[in-house]
Amino acid sequence: MPLKKTLALKKILIGVALASAPFVPTATAAQITVGFSQIGSESGWRAAETTVSKSEATKRSVNLKIADAQQKQENQIKAIRSFVAQGVDAIFLAPVVSSGWEAVLKEAKQAKIPVILLDRDIDPSGKDLYLTAVTSDSVHEGEVAGDWLAKAVGDKACNIVELQGTVGASVATNRKKGFDTAIAKHANLKVVRSQTGDFTRAKGKEVMESFIKAEGGGKSICAVYAHNDDMMVGAIQAMKEAGLKPGKDILTVSIDAVPDIFKAIVAGEANATVELTPNMAGPALDALIAYKDKGTEPPKWIQTESKLYTATDDPQKAYDSKKGLGY
Ligand code: AHR
Repeated sequence: MPLKKTLALKKILIGVALASAPFVPTATAAQITVGFSQIGSESGWRAAETTVSKSEATKRSVNLKIADAQQKQENQIKAIRSFVAQGVDAIFLAPVVSSGWEAVLKEAKQAKIPVILLDRDIDPSGKDLYLTAVTSDSVHEGEVAGDWLAKAVGDKACNIVELQGTVGASVATNRKKGFDTAIAKHANLKVVRSQTGDFTRAKGKEVMESFIKAEGGGKSICAVYAHNDDMMVGAIQAMKEAGLKPGKDILTVSIDAVPDIFKAIVAGEANATVELTPNMAGPALDALIAYKDKGTEPPKWIQTESKLYTATDDPQKAYDSKKGLGY
């Protein structure tokens, strides 16, 4: 081919390559450093949220610094102060409990560092102290769980035992409230015992053992409602060790949709779960980048979806799709 024609063809090919090149984050996004005060690793869901946050940050070339608070608010407060001292561009906070944030969040505000809440809320008095919150509607999650149980039980009398999440956590308060509202419409459903299992498998098992003892070996329990799947996995173990058949003699409904609960549903040992996405950081980072780049003010609440899964929703497929996500 003559040289002139070869050069023209080269030009066209370069043009096409540039036009179809993938979107490259802007210079601003590439320079962002975000400090994330994470609660800890109390549950499979929490572990997945940490893993997914890292990959969502990498996708957007954001430098994400994670501080693990080991379930303690005082450690979260220290981490936020340290992020402020380092001059990060933004702070992500998964607040272990809902109260006690005003002083430290005021410090971040004075330093002009935007704060985004992930997966849990703080008291309404702190609304001006953060940019946006990426969370599910945790009252609704409790309602979905309660409505499912009411339908599954029908007219028969049903004594329910409840495993609550961490005391003072917004999601524990709200999941209780939503469930109580849903079952209040059905006189045959009654919560007979309710105690915290702190969102962990070990405590879920321990508390369920005490419920079983107190309820005549579990004979009078018709259903277990747990504020997360990890506590339910612990409770299932306790029921099996007591010679009970979870999922059959005793119905189960919990929240998160972690791979292990799908395994239990496949085995017929669990009945229902309400999904909480572990991807809170992706929408939070998009909101932050738009805010930093273009000054776009995000809505005060970015709500994630809450989907119910039961044995009819191909639990094996759900397990396979989730097992590699860091749960
Ligand atoms: O805040 C979300 C909750 O925290 C999850 O449902 C639970 O598993 C976690 O510990």
